[in-house]
Amino acid sequence: MLKGLTPPSDPNLLVGIETADDAAVYKLSSDMAMINTVDFITPPVDDPYWFGQIAAANSISDIYSMGGKPLTALNLVMFPSKSLDMGILHDILRGGHDKVFEAGACLVGGHTIDDEEPKYGLCVNGIVDPKRVITNAGSKPGDALVLTKPIGSGVLFNAVRSGKLPFKDLEKDILPVLASLNDIAIATALKFDLNACTDVTGFGILGHLLEISLGCGARVVVDFNAIPIYPYAREMYNKGETTGSNKGNRQMVNSENFDIQTSLSKPEEELLFDPQTSGGLLLSVPDSQCTDFILALETAGVAVAKKIGYVVAESVGITIV
Ligand code: CO
Ligand code: CO
Ligand code: CO
Repeated sequence: MLKGLTPPSDPNLLVGIETADDAAVYKLSSDMAMINTVDFITPPVDDPYWFGQIAAANSISDIYSMGGKPLTALNLVMFPSKSLDMGILHDILRGGHDKVFEAGACLVGGHTIDDEEPKYGLCVNGIVDPKRVITNAGSKPGDALVLTKPIGSGVLFNAVRSGKLPFKDLEKDILPVLASLNDIAIATALKFDLNACTDVTGFGILGHLLEISLGCGARVVVDFNAIPIYPYAREMYNKGETTGSNKGNRQMVNSENFDIQTSLSKPEEELLFDPQTSGGLLLSVPDSQCTDFILALETAGVAVAKKIGYVVAESVGITIV
């Protein structure tokens, strides 16, 4: 959609739109660059406080995935003020506020418009050392790929909506992990030779692994059985539940030399295309550091830390083993 529009050529723009990265990075001085990102979503759950927390954690995550520290955030709000109680909006904003506070950043304003369906998110600004910007394009053959949250949340949101999964199960077993910040994961990762990072969101685990592959021009091999999966997710695909993004995500991955070398059931395949909201970080570190890295993540209190694959010096694309 941006075809024909002139991309910026400012030499201080360290990360722009070319590599489909999580945020823009602009160098201010030799030791400081600013990170800018914006994200907003429709409610994945009806509960307004959880909605606010999830949307905010998801927005802030794009700062962490560049190796940065969030400083300020602005609310983006679309809300049907005539048909919904304003107390709901207050609870959405309270959820966002609490996550920004937890991240140690300042919520400094925002903008609201009337809309038929609620939407909420943040514009987040942060800083990073320009010599230590982490992109999605820096993986090297020999890297291990580590994931810090399970996948499968997309189908669970739909399953709650269609009555196949009680909300209380989602709230008890999934939402606390899903709404958690990726702050500890990135802080721990920066103590290692972190070559690349992205957060797993709407394109599903394979879509974001494909970004890693395209970014470094090498192949990603994924061990399906190592991928952490949220409780009930497999069961919901077995019951025929899906999401509106699975098909498109599959098409995107299929377009680049995609190869499944193991036998997966249809529901197992679907999990690979399940879109995430506020997913974990996908971290690329030299394989020789991987064992220590996973131990460090666990010791720091990151709920999930799994090596799910590695990078090999072969043609761009993904192989599932
Ligand atoms: Co992102
Ligand atoms: Co984003
Ligand atoms: Co305004």
